[in-house]
Amino acid sequence: MSTIEKAVTKLNRDNTGRSESSAQQSSEQLQVHEPIAVKPQVVQEASAGHDNSSHTVQLNLAMLEKNNFVSLSKERRLINEEYRVIKRKLINNAFGALSKTLQHPNLILVTSSRPGEGKTFSAINLALSIALEQDKTVLLVDADVLRPNVSKTLNISHNLGLTDYLQSTDVTVPDILLSTNVERLKLITAGSPHHLSTELLASERMSQLVNEFASRYSDRIVIFDAPPLLGVNETAVMAAMCGQAVIVVEENRTRLAEIEQSVSLLPEEMAVGFLINKAHRNQGKGYGYGYYYGAS
Ligand SMILES: Nc1ncnc2c1ncn2[C@@H]1O[C@H](COP(=O)(O)OP(=O)(O)OP(=O)(O)O)[C@@H](O)[C@H]1O
Ligand SMILES: [Mg+2]
Repeated sequence: MSTIEKAVTKLNRDNTGRSESSAQQSSEQLQVHEPIAVKPQVVQEASAGHDNSSHTVQLNLAMLEKNNFVSLSKERRLINEEYRVIKRKLINNAFGALSKTLQHPNLILVTSSRPGEGKTFSAINLALSIALEQDKTVLLVDADVLRPNVSKTLNISHNLGLTDYLQSTDVTVPDILLSTNVERLKLITAGSPHHLSTELLASERMSQLVNEFASRYSDRIVIFDAPPLLGVNETAVMAAMCGQAVIVVEENRTRLAEIEQSVSLLPEEMAVGFLINKAHRNQGKGYGYGYYYGAS
């Protein structure tokens, strides 16, 4: 049995047991409140503060909460608990013992086999979850330049983003780096549509930018919301620039052969995890979120 088949078998087993324990947990521990309105806060630079980003966007945290994203309020939510587990593994890989064996362990590519499996949803939730850590700063980069949905989902806009930087040496990192009302969360939007959008992701300038993120921001996590692996060659090129990949797998939709094909496109030396999205729970809602995460 291949590693992936074992993982999927384990996933199915875990999900069966998990559905029951999740249901139990949700009734025992988790209280669902009305979303708490969060006042826009004055943005403070992260204490490391050496990135001199001068632009600020306001995230509507109440709207995100309402749309079932990880909550930044004190409220306990199942989704927060679930992402906490995944985030821990990513942070451990980035800064723990394994980090010495990885190149650019703090750079995490969030991808999938095919479009629509939940990359943006997962990348935003991971970023929010990491921003909840007291001592961690996170930069979320919308690198899915063909289907740039981070800005849309977060309801923000900025006139300069990743493709603008990649196309022009006149655009600098501070021009595209956005602070937010979440103190430890920075963003880079996808930028203007460009006919060579995906090619730009595999460019020398992209490689230099990624190297800069890895070294200059080595104390923070950088999450790339990337295009899918199958059909977009540049995603594998980007993967080779990152130390970790999270492959979002849609339960009951993604085929095992597609997962295997996707994994075969990734460099062998990177840490790869699978995030099973839209896993069904036996909670009466029928649609939720679940995961299996394992490094290969
Ligand atoms: N676990 C989830 N629970 C609820 N809604 C979800 C979940 N995962 C994804 N969605 C929703 O499914 C849709 C597709 O998800 P998303 O945009 O994250 O996928 P994607 O892989 O980024 O797609 P694309 O390839 O188009 O960029 C979105 O409307 C998103 O809000
Ligand atoms: Mg997306």
